[in-house]
Amino acid sequence: MSFWTRHQIFEKNSVILIAGILVVIAIGGLVEITPLFYLKSTIEVVDGVRPYTPLELAGRNIYVREGCYLCHSQMVRPLRDEVERYGHFSLAAESMYDHPFQWGSKRTGPDLARVGAKYSDEWHVTHLTNPRAIVPQSVMPGYPFLAQTEVDTAVVADNLKASRVVGVPYSDEQIRNAVADLKAQADPDNVGTDAFAKRYPKAVIRNFDSKAGAPTEMDALVAYLQMLGTLIDFKLYNEKANLR
Ligand code: HEC
Repeated sequence: MSFWTRHQIFEKNSVILIAGILVVIAIGGLVEITPLFYLKSTIEVVDGVRPYTPLELAGRNIYVREGCYLCHSQMVRPLRDEVERYGHFSLAAESMYDHPFQWGSKRTGPDLARVGAKYSDEWHVTHLTNPRAIVPQSVMPGYPFLAQTEVDTAVVADNLKASRVVGVPYSDEQIRNAVADLKAQADPDNVGTDAFAKRYPKAVIRNFDSKAGAPTEMDALVAYLQMLGTLIDFKLYNEKANLR
C-alpha cells in the first residue's frame, strides 16, 4: 500500500475516521485558543470606561430583574443602518464590567446601548410609568411600582463585592461607602456628593425621579439608562473612522 492509498484506512473505518477528525480539530482549536492564555486581557482598554456607581448598579439589577433584555438589546452592530440609527458601534470595553452582559438577542423595542442622555429624566419616568403616555402604540409594559419602591440598600455593598469577585476593580473605600454613594448620587443637596464625585469621576448627580426622600427603584433605573453609552467620547473615534 503506497503512502497515498493509506487514506483508505480512514475511509473504510468510521471509528478511525472519527479519531482522525478529532485530532485535526484539536490542532485547529489549540492554534486558536493557546495564544489567548498568553494575553493579559482580550479587551482593549478605552478611556472613560469605569465601573458602575452603586446607584447605576442597582438600576442595572432592576433592568435584569424586570427582564428588559427580553425586548431590548444593548449592542450596536457595525452595520450601516445600525450605526446611522443608534450611533457608533459597540466596543468590547463598554460591557467589560457587565456581569452578565446585556447584549440581548431580541429587539421588540430599540437598542438601548446609546440611550443615555438622549431623553430627559422626566421623559424616562413618564415612559417607564406608562409607555403609552408617550408612544400610543407601544407594547412595552408599564412599571409604575418602581417609583413607589425604595432601593433595597441592604444588598448594595454586597453587589459591589460580588462584582469585585468577578473582576470589577471596586476599591475597599468604594465598597465601604456604597450605601452613602448610592444616596449621594440621587440627591444633589446631599453632604456626601463631593466625596461621591471623587470616587466616581464624571458620574451624573441628579434627583432622577424628582421626588424628595430616599432613592427609589425609578431613580436607580433612570440613572442606569442615562449613563448607557455616555462614557466614551466617540467624537474621536468618528473622526478617525470618518463617520458622522
Ligand atoms: C414587551 C417588550 C418590552 C419590554 C419588556 C420592555 N420594553 Fe422598552 N420598549 C419596547 C418597545 C416596543 C419600545 C418602543 C416604543 C416605546 O418607546 O414605548 C420601547 C422603548 C423603550 C425605550 C425608549 C428607547 C428609545 O431610544 O426611544 C426605553 C428607554 C425603554 N424601552 C426601556 C425599557 C426598560 C428599562 C425596560 C425594563 C424595565 C423595558 N424597556 C422593557 C418594548 C419593551
